Amino acid sequence: MRFSFTAEQEMVRQAARDFAQNELLPGVIERDEKQTFPDELIRKMGELGFLGLMVSPEYGGGGMDTVSYVLVMEELSKVDASASVIVSVQNSLINWGIETYGTEEQKRKYLPALAKGELIGAFCLSEPEAGSDATQQRTTAIRRGDYYILSGTKNWITNAGRAGIYLVMAQTDPSQGSRGISAFIVEREWKGVVVGKKEDKLGIRGSDTHSMIFNDVKVPIENRIGEEGFGFKFAMKVLDGGRIGIAAQALGIASGAYELALRYSTQRKAFSVPIAKHQAIAFKLAQMATRVEAARLLCLRAAQAKDKGEPYGLLASLAKLYASRTAMEVTTEAIQIHGGYGYVKEYHVERLFRDAKITEIYEGTSEIQRIVISRALGKGDVPFLCA
Ligand code: CAA
Repeated sequence: MRFSFTAEQEMVRQAARDFAQNELLPGVIERDEKQTFPDELIRKMGELGFLGLMVSPEYGGGGMDTVSYVLVMEELSKVDASASVIVSVQNSLINWGIETYGTEEQKRKYLPALAKGELIGAFCLSEPEAGSDATQQRTTAIRRGDYYILSGTKNWITNAGRAGIYLVMAQTDPSQGSRGISAFIVEREWKGVVVGKKEDKLGIRGSDTHSMIFNDVKVPIENRIGEEGFGFKFAMKVLDGGRIGIAAQALGIASGAYELALRYSTQRKAFSVPIAKHQAIAFKLAQMATRVEAARLLCLRAAQAKDKGEPYGLLASLAKLYASRTAMEVTTEAIQIHGGYGYVKEYHVERLFRDAKITEIYEGTSEIQRIVISRALGKGDVPFLCA
């Protein structure tokens, strides 16, 4: 068993670290305040390949592994979790979903532009009355010959305002429950596609979250992903991988806050010594470092399992559950270590604290992760190292 990265993984991590420090950091406070979507930065991340990390080179992507993706997500999220969620949705949900389950025609049509970041995607599963209980889809897609008529409303859609395509889950046969849900690629320019209200969020304010309304949109049959009725399984499989990305986002928020707290506590003096010398602070830092490294190992373990073709759904949920709690705890302590300075924007930790909370909510709440984990444990399906 080896705990080291390849030269390529180190290189992409360094590229993400440099980009985060040089490009994301300068405007991050203003983007958070004004809720500005980072259009120009997304263009640059597209050029650097961050929007198509794992897409096969055949479709214009970087052909990298999930471990590299986790490394990139951690580095970007240390500085700007709004930019990183855009990267996460694009890579895990949109690109991976289309590349793994799409037809050859769908892959050739959409992946090259997605991989370059010229086209942004959004994942439309949640609805006003179907959040955690994602089987309760009210959006319908009624077959009319060689197309479907799609109608309904989706909520909390990341990237919605900037997306050019939407992966939409809808009921094609309500009598079949979750087996009657299908998945579609819907283009923004099609008649009846309406971007709804923009949400005014607590955190990740630079990302663009809206409701989406589909008013009798005509969707050609060739834009269905997989067979009719495959939509719920498609969404669940995609979210298994998505949870690795969000776990890595939570990890990055935590490690970013930890690094800021460590730096501050070695510079700031109280009672004549750097505050890191006081046991009250030193113990906090020790606890934070331990949690961050444990979260990192869980993220990398899930990523490695995915790369090796092993089952990873349970590992992804373990990583997301632990890393998101870690993000909340570590950012809380980072503010405490900064004292009053931690409570103002200039020192960044208050933003990381606000950003941390969403990682316990999206791609399945912490309660949903516990459901996924406990069900897998019940089946004896445990890919633990020494099981
Ligand atoms: N992979 C493949 N198939 C799966 C699966 C998985 N991970 N999980 C469930 N399924 C299948 C089951 O095998 C079952 O198939 P059959 O009918 O053939 O037996 C079917 O799906 C229904 O499964 P369940 O009976 O287990 O469904 P459930 O309703 O009891 O529970 C759940 C499923 C885990 C609670 C699920 O609803 C869930 O994950 N909910 C949370 C949804 C979520 O994460 N939403 C986030 C929105 S997306 C987002 O946040 C992105 C963003 O913008 C950042």
